[in-house]
Amino acid sequence: MNIRTQLDTIITQALANVGANEAPAVVKTSARPEFGDYQANGIMGAAKKLKMNPRELATKVVAELENNSEISLLVEKYEIAGPGFINIHLKNNWLADQVEQTLNSDNLAVKKSSTPETVVIDYSAPNLAKEMHVGHLRSTIIGDAISRVLEFLGHKVIRQNHVGDWGTQFGMLLTYMGELKKENAELEMQLSDLEKFYQAAKIRFDEDEAFATQARENVVKLQAGDAEFLKLWQQFIDTSLNHCDEIYQILNVKLKREDVAPESQYNDDLASVITDLDKAGLLSEDQGAQCVFLDEFKGKDDSIIPMIVQKSDGGYLYATTDLAALRYRHNQLGMTRGLYLVDARQSLHLKQVYVVGKKAGFLPETTSLEHMAFGTMMGKDGTPFKTRTGGTVKLIDLLNEAKLRAFDLVTSKNPDLDEASRREIANTVGIGAVKYADLSKNRTSDYIFNWDTMLSFEGNTAPYLQYAYARIQSIFRKAGEINSGAEIVLQEPAERLLATKLLQFSEAVDVVAKDGTPNFLCNYLFELSGNFMSFYEACPIMKADEATKQSRLKLAQLTANTLKTGLDLLGIDVMERM
Ligand code: ARG
Repeated sequence: MNIRTQLDTIITQALANVGANEAPAVVKTSARPEFGDYQANGIMGAAKKLKMNPRELATKVVAELENNSEISLLVEKYEIAGPGFINIHLKNNWLADQVEQTLNSDNLAVKKSSTPETVVIDYSAPNLAKEMHVGHLRSTIIGDAISRVLEFLGHKVIRQNHVGDWGTQFGMLLTYMGELKKENAELEMQLSDLEKFYQAAKIRFDEDEAFATQARENVVKLQAGDAEFLKLWQQFIDTSLNHCDEIYQILNVKLKREDVAPESQYNDDLASVITDLDKAGLLSEDQGAQCVFLDEFKGKDDSIIPMIVQKSDGGYLYATTDLAALRYRHNQLGMTRGLYLVDARQSLHLKQVYVVGKKAGFLPETTSLEHMAFGTMMGKDGTPFKTRTGGTVKLIDLLNEAKLRAFDLVTSKNPDLDEASRREIANTVGIGAVKYADLSKNRTSDYIFNWDTMLSFEGNTAPYLQYAYARIQSIFRKAGEINSGAEIVLQEPAERLLATKLLQFSEAVDVVAKDGTPNFLCNYLFELSGNFMSFYEACPIMKADEATKQSRLKLAQLTANTLKTGLDLLGIDVMERM
């Protein structure tokens, strides 16, 4: 349990002991060191309920706490402040002990969850008809960071890459593939740029009526399981997935081929989804289509927006597949928590899937299904990010540009370093910068993509954090071996501040696991680096006497470990030198 939760639990209990039942202590980290390390803000609320003077209640709570031997181990003193806040000052030697223990532990003393879940996390999920573009970036990297954090906390994480591989576009693409094959054109070559391939097929489709008719017939053949078309389709899908794998590797994302659970995987389950919905009494026919109408899905004008699960021609839809996937995730994967990293614009769709899936009994009401929505990536002008000519930006182009820009930057800072080293550093900095820029924003809002800010060595950026890490490594190179037997002593305010911050790592990680908000971890790492820089300015290491030097080196060591682990949870690498 992290410190904040520990204090919160004990103080909430103390409130109950003095008569304030079910009143949360609301413990937060203090905004300023004068107010202690933590603050209990819940006393006023509790006093209001009891119709009591809040400072009087606070006094009773403090008396209760002073008699509690568990909390007395860590707390130096309490102060009642303002209208009834309780400021909590932690003990110096307790903090020092905790730093020492954390330094000697695996995983920075972060405890595994006592209630591990089987979390199915649905992320990335591009449509395979086209190449991955910037629109897939957010789902891919935010989802990956959350999956790493959950694994770190001991949950069983099952990644599901719900790629679109079965839409009507495949009729067009396969028809075009067939044409190229006949002409003996080099198909491999053509497929190497999927985006161009798609455009070329689309032109044929739009301009040639016979081609379009053929394309429509071919979808039917494909969906009927025609061997020849299935083979062509498989070739296309493989090529497209190879493109994805290349991107995942560059992005340092954990998605593997075995995590791909494509839409087509559910083809054979779709008919039974419809019969099950019917059995559950959820189905109604509307203009020949099979739909679910529920009061929960009221639109702005109070009319119900139906969820269509089968078209009048018998075809199934995106929603049908998602329902089948939900049932599979419960039955076959044993999901107890489901996270969907999907664009905010799909929120009605997912809400319908969740409600209908539960009403149909595909999974229990108690399974938590969470749409972790995100906004759009915008260009500098505040409209969705596009190429100069207004086209969609291929993800691979964006990542290559990141590496190039970082290379120029690294070269300007280290002109004397050999080229191979500069390239290596640039790749880590460039990709880290793109990822971090996204992860550090509140995911629910749109955000403006800006090369200059994300590649800056100042501010809340990947290069700043990577540099902080490399700087600590250079201190170690100068200082030599750290004496592991040395005692940590917290004398200066900056040392104390850094120590307290270091011990709050698990608080940040817990928030990410609960709310799916990697920006909390980013902020934490940024503040930690700030605390380290202040400490480094105020507390000389090399010039201090030997005991102080060793104590400070240990603080630096834990800072480096925390930065490295924290960035790794975000899928970002560090370097020993920059
Ligand atoms: N392929 C979809 C798209 O590009 C995203 C899929 C998200 N996951 C899901 N289970 N619906 O919009």
